[in-house]
Amino acid sequence: MPAGGFVVGDGSRAYPGKLTPFVLFTCVVAAMGGLIFGYDIGISGGVTSMPSFLRRFFPSVYRKQQEEATSNQYCQYDSPTLTLFTSSLYLAALISSLVASTVTRRFGRRLSMLFGGILFCAGALVNGFAKHVWMLIVGRILLGFGIGFANQSVPLYLSEMAPYKYRGSLNIGFQLSITIGILVAEVLNYFFAKIKGGWGWRLSLGGAVVPALIITLGSLVLPDTPNSMIERGLHEEAKTKLRRIRGVDDVSQEFDDLVAASKESQSIEDPWRNLLRRKYRPHLTMAIMIPFFQQLTGINVIMFYAPVLFNTIGFTTDASLMSAVVTGSVNVAATLVSIYGVDKWGRRFLFLEGGTQMLICQAVVAACIGAKFGVDGTPGELPKWYAIVVVTFICIYVAGFAWSWGPLGWLVPSEIFPLEIRSAAQSITVSVNMIFTFIIAQIFLMMLCHLKFGLFLFFAFFVVVMSIFVYIFLPETKGIPIEEMGQVWRSHWYWSRFVEDGEYGNALEMGKSTNQGTKHV
Ligand code: BGC
Repeated sequence: MPAGGFVVGDGSRAYPGKLTPFVLFTCVVAAMGGLIFGYDIGISGGVTSMPSFLRRFFPSVYRKQQEEATSNQYCQYDSPTLTLFTSSLYLAALISSLVASTVTRRFGRRLSMLFGGILFCAGALVNGFAKHVWMLIVGRILLGFGIGFANQSVPLYLSEMAPYKYRGSLNIGFQLSITIGILVAEVLNYFFAKIKGGWGWRLSLGGAVVPALIITLGSLVLPDTPNSMIERGLHEEAKTKLRRIRGVDDVSQEFDDLVAASKESQSIEDPWRNLLRRKYRPHLTMAIMIPFFQQLTGINVIMFYAPVLFNTIGFTTDASLMSAVVTGSVNVAATLVSIYGVDKWGRRFLFLEGGTQMLICQAVVAACIGAKFGVDGTPGELPKWYAIVVVTFICIYVAGFAWSWGPLGWLVPSEIFPLEIRSAAQSITVSVNMIFTFIIAQIFLMMLCHLKFGLFLFFAFFVVVMSIFVYIFLPETKGIPIEEMGQVWRSHWYWSRFVEDGEYGNALEMGKSTNQGTKHV
């Protein structure tokens, strides 16, 4: 065992290190990378329900909306161009996250964040000054490129930078800024929608330059992670940085382990092909299933279309935006709960609790909407208590998501991949997330029109499936150093058959003493 190391009771190594102000500062700054993603999620739904915006760019939707109030409420927003506006971004993000994998691996996590900020800034400007639909779409594509870079690099940055005991909380800073971005966007929409002359949407869309500048400037002052420096051969700088980050002099054990992990990583020529090897089956499965399930919770139906949805269930435009602000606040507050609990209660507990909570709420909301709107979408007069019940259950649902699948959908992938596949596997996670965000954004309005209240039952079904999946297949990763994660698979009842002893992370294992305990999860 390298000098200074020791093995703790649960079989994982404890590296010395504190939560230093330096690490806190870097993680807070880096986490702000989530703002651009959040701002964007929050802004599109509100803008697409502003009449002046619709009249200018999507006149057919506008006309449809103006038709008499008794027409089918489930279908009033069903327009392919309108959904293309919302979802073009996610296709762009998907493509750029694949490019970002190489940038992140070869040039460091920081440079990807910088690219992300710059592209996002450009997109915000094109959108703010848009005169034609194509400008809107080009702007969205640039924003998407920005998000692809940021979402690929920020979660990895945070998980590598954080001392392992606080990794969950610090990483969730990313999700916290996503939720703050969403909320700020929703509040701004609420006020900008009131601007006389109907040009408030320009401020909403152009306002994205602010979070873009924050991440651009932030990435200029951030140091790169020691893991990434070692991966690029900068050993001495990495050691000095590691001392500074951890706030202790003796970082030799962690450093040696990082070097060992990096040696293993260097021996791999093609990280993409490598991902297909049998021993990475658990990682590849999680890289795909976690973001897939995160989107199949149906959260973005609420996030993108909350104003539209509230409008559908009988609120006026103003009240709809306001209710979106309410759900946005619940989203932020509940994420704080997760920051508090994730390293105490563990990931699995939050996943399972959050899943149960979401399931109950989806069933109640489906029942409420079904009871009033029936299958023809003609609600008649809607009593106030009814709207309150629906909004309350939507809020409890959002809270369930915000302390489970929301943050953990980004945290868990970023902490389970070994260095040699980390960047590529993270890109898969981002891409899968974006594909399914895209699909849901693209088909939600159509699904609402056809499945009606059954839409909520559709997502409820997936919540059941994902909870069973977590229960059976996802090992607990709380409190395990990131370069030591191999042990959770080796001791898992199912995954151990893929990840045999000594087959995984050889270089790291060889540098380790033989008295390492085995932990059963
Ligand atoms: C998801 C987004 C979602 C957001 C809501 C994120 O973790 O990736 O798709 O809109 O949470 O807070």
